[in-house]
Amino acid sequence: MVEIARSCAEVRAFLAVPRRAGERIALVPTMGDLHGGHLALVRRSREVAPFTVVSIFVNPFQFAEGEDFDSYPRSTETDIERLEVLDVDLVFLPPISEIYPAGPENSTRVEVPGLGSILCGAMRPTFFRGVATVVTMLLNAVQPHVALFGEKDYQQLLVVRRLVDHLKLPVAVESVPTVREADGLAMSSRNRYLAPADRRRAPILYRSLREASERIRSGERDYHALGLHYMKALERAGFRPDYFSVRRAGDLESPAPEDRELVVLAAAWLGPARLIDNVSCTLGPGPA
Ligand code: PAF
Repeated sequence: MVEIARSCAEVRAFLAVPRRAGERIALVPTMGDLHGGHLALVRRSREVAPFTVVSIFVNPFQFAEGEDFDSYPRSTETDIERLEVLDVDLVFLPPISEIYPAGPENSTRVEVPGLGSILCGAMRPTFFRGVATVVTMLLNAVQPHVALFGEKDYQQLLVVRRLVDHLKLPVAVESVPTVREADGLAMSSRNRYLAPADRRRAPILYRSLREASERIRSGERDYHALGLHYMKALERAGFRPDYFSVRRAGDLESPAPEDRELVVLAAAWLGPARLIDNVSCTLGPGPA
């Protein structure tokens, strides 16, 4: 049976034993409704540390007014069964009052300026503040040696890396590649919001990202025009795109001609589902 902790004090008490034994502890933060992407994080965690904690917490602070906090899929019992099969050591299942005793709005918050307010942060202005705050809190509660995040949420991954760096948190952040359905759609809890016809067209997002990345590798350098082209193409295919953008992989700034490590990112709505995805793009050595 997997152990369950509902308070930070319980987590600390439970982790005292592996900590004293000098065992590496890994944390996989999730909002539950676990799919193949989460399970890949857990499997990787089991490879890098003998002790794995998975947190399941649907964080109200990262949902804006009118977003899907109330309807966000919750399936705690099935989640726990899946984690048991993967031999997870501890599941942290805090109630909202444990994470935000003064309520989300009155709690101390963590903000990552710049990186947190572009792309998805421009569309969802309070989202990364909510993510950065809860991730900091979870890292403090668990004090893991390593924390694992999926590459599908690429901007989130960079926000977490930056807050860990700025706040000098003693944790290694490891990323795990996006897990996809057979047709290429990135796995996400929100995919279940897709109506059948939208589900069939959803893989166009990933195909467009790959195509754009190929065009860059083949010499296309007008990233702005490329972004506009795919925004229009997605609209024609029935999406409502928020952005389609080529950025520098390390910090999501606009690429300079000498930058070689790029990432193409997109967010687009299909009905009530907001899909995000990205494809990395490494260029060969530039002209001397
Ligand atoms: O990616 C997620 O599921 C969430 O944003 C996270 C990192 C668990 C924070 O709530």
